[in-house]
Parts: sequence; C-alpha cells; structure tokens
Amino acid sequence: MTVTVKDAARRQTLTLSAQVYRGTPENLRRLARILQRGGLVAVPTETVYGLAANAFDAAACRQIFHAKRRPANDPLIVHVADLRMLARIAESNDAVTRLAHAFWPGPLTLVLPRNRVIPDVVTAGLSSVAVRMPAHPLLRRLLRLSGLPLAAPSANPFGYVSPTTAAHVRDGLGSAISHILDGGPCRHGLESTIVDVRDPRRPVLLRPGVITAEQLTRVLGVPVRVGSRRRNPAIPALAPGLMARHYSPLRPLRTHRRITAAMVARARTNEAWICFRQPDWAGAARNVFWLSTRGNVAAAGRRLFSLLRQLDHGDWTRLHAELAPANGPGLAINDRLRRAAAK
Ligand code: TXA
Ligand code: MG
Repeated sequence: MTVTVKDAARRQTLTLSAQVYRGTPENLRRLARILQRGGLVAVPTETVYGLAANAFDAAACRQIFHAKRRPANDPLIVHVADLRMLARIAESNDAVTRLAHAFWPGPLTLVLPRNRVIPDVVTAGLSSVAVRMPAHPLLRRLLRLSGLPLAAPSANPFGYVSPTTAAHVRDGLGSAISHILDGGPCRHGLESTIVDVRDPRRPVLLRPGVITAEQLTRVLGVPVRVGSRRRNPAIPALAPGLMARHYSPLRPLRTHRRITAAMVARARTNEAWICFRQPDWAGAARNVFWLSTRGNVAAAGRRLFSLLRQLDHGDWTRLHAELAPANGPGLAINDRLRRAAAK
C-alpha cells in the first residue's frame, strides 16, 4: 500500500487526538480493515476496554507495548471469536471444553500451551498463551469482520487504573493511539478472571474476577488452587499483572475493613472515603462516596475504577476504601483495592 502525503498528514493529526467511533456497520468495517493492516484499535469488552492488534502480527503487537509503555515481559491476552480460532493459537484440552461451554463468551481468560503461530512478543516469550472469548457484541462483530485473533491488554497507560468507558481510554491514551470504538460503559468493570489450565487436573487461579474460583471448581470437578505470591513465588514472573503494585490511582490509597462515621469525623476534610455501600450516616458530606447504593457486589465492581479515576481528578490528599464482603466477586474488588493501595 502506498502512503500518500495526504494519508501521512491525516495520520499525524489522528495521532494527536484519537478518534472515537460509534459501532455502526460502516465504522466496524473500517476498524476491521485498520486491524488487518496492522493498526491499533481500542475496543470495548464486557470487563474493561482493551487496546487491540492482530495477534499474528508481531510489529502491530509491539506497538501496543509502545503505546501503553508496557514492559515487554508482561504478556497480552488474545481474544477470539470462536473455538476454531482458539484451536489455531493454543492447545485445547478437556478443561477448555467445559469452561468454554459454561462461561464463554464471557469474562474468563484461560492460560494454555501456545502454538508457534503466535509471535513471542504477545506471550513475552512464554510457552503459554492467555486466551479469552469476549461477550461484548461490538467486539464480537469486529473479531468476525477482521477474521483475526486480537491481542489486547487493558487500554490504559501501564500501571494505571483500567478504563471502563471510551472517555477513560481517550484520557489515558488519546495522544498515543488513533482509533477508539465506543461500546458504552463496561458491564463488569473489572478485568477477567485468569485461570491456568495447562494441566486440566491442576487448575490455578492467577487473577480473581467476577467468575469465581468456586464456580470454576464446580464446572471442572477438581479444586482450583488460588495462586498467591506467598504460596507460589513463580506467579509474578508468570503473570506480571499480579505484581503487587498495579491498577493504581495517582493518590495514596488505604484500605479498611470497615469505614465508620467516627473515622471520617477524625480525619482531615481533604481525604476522600469510599464506602462499599451507601452509609446511613453520610448525610451531605462531600468527602464520602460509595461503590453501590445497596451493597450490590456487581454494581460495586462496575463502579470501582471509574470512581477511582473521578477522585484522581479532585484535590484529595488521600483516598480511603472499604473492602467488599470477602466472598464471590467481592474478592476481585478487594484484590484490585489492595493492589491500588500497595506502596
Ligand atoms: O478483562 C480482561 O482480561 C482485559 C480485557 C481487555 O480483555 N484485559 C486485561 O489485560 O486485563 P491485561 O494485559 O491488562 O492483563 C492481562 C494479564 C497480565 O497480567 C498478564 O501478565 C497475564 O494476563 N497473562 C497474559 N498472558 C499470560 C500467560 N501466558 N501466562 C500467565 N499470565 C498471562
Ligand atoms: Mg492491565
């Protein structure tokens, strides 16, 4: 393809400020062509927005690392439209069949033995590849139109809070990328559950998400071990996203088992408090916030990252966050809060 002067100039203006596309059939066809030609497109998923490129194209995938300033040792998740595409990039097994049947398309990522067609840059040289079949209808259409598996990490500068709207993507990467597909606010707002099923008899949970270890155990019929850094020192090397400090807001954040009216009253007024559910003592206090009105875990997960971003724009000196009930998807919320709080 020859690049005319006009194309080059146009491209330059686009890099200065990303264009946001609605999911019309024409826009989707255009974005699919951009992906086929090696371009990057930020895409909506049901978890968080991702920054996508053709997973077969090493040069395109290198651009993802460049745009996010992501270290090369942090591998990407590959998104597929169907199991046929999965079979081209990874070795399947019985656990995949069961989990795919129960949870795909959906917020679950499987770590599997990798096929050589996936370039090293995607997997950071590991012999495994992380694969997921997303549920967001616009991304599914884009996957089918492009006919490609799409490598996509969360569409945020490395180490910052994941984006759950197209505006979040533009705020963080607007000058580093050119194309953002707007699919509305993300349904879950927390990144996918990651489970290593290379050995289907010994599944290991690498990242908690809205699909819980109990749900996986029920479907697999064998216990899913929760991989923790303390118990398994290999994990941070395996999944750098599990390193302690990640998903961080700009302000220092402290977690609490419970936030009470007395704690807020004792603290400075320029500290912000994030309760899990709306407290009956909040009144009109302008420094008290909540993840959910009635303590609904799904609603709380959906709101967590956008609230952290909103508070980063205020002039708070410190954030405090109350942990969610420590079960089910509450564990995923607490995982993200603890990482955000890590020094
Ligand atoms: O919900 C999600 O998973 C979102 C959307 C866009 O799909 N993606 C996402 O990607 O959260 P990212 O890159 O921010 O986090 C992916 C995590 C990283 O921490 C990485 O270390 C881990 O997946 N990962 C990728 N490939 C892996 C592999 N082969 N083995 C172990 N962990 C892997
Ligand atoms: Mg990420």
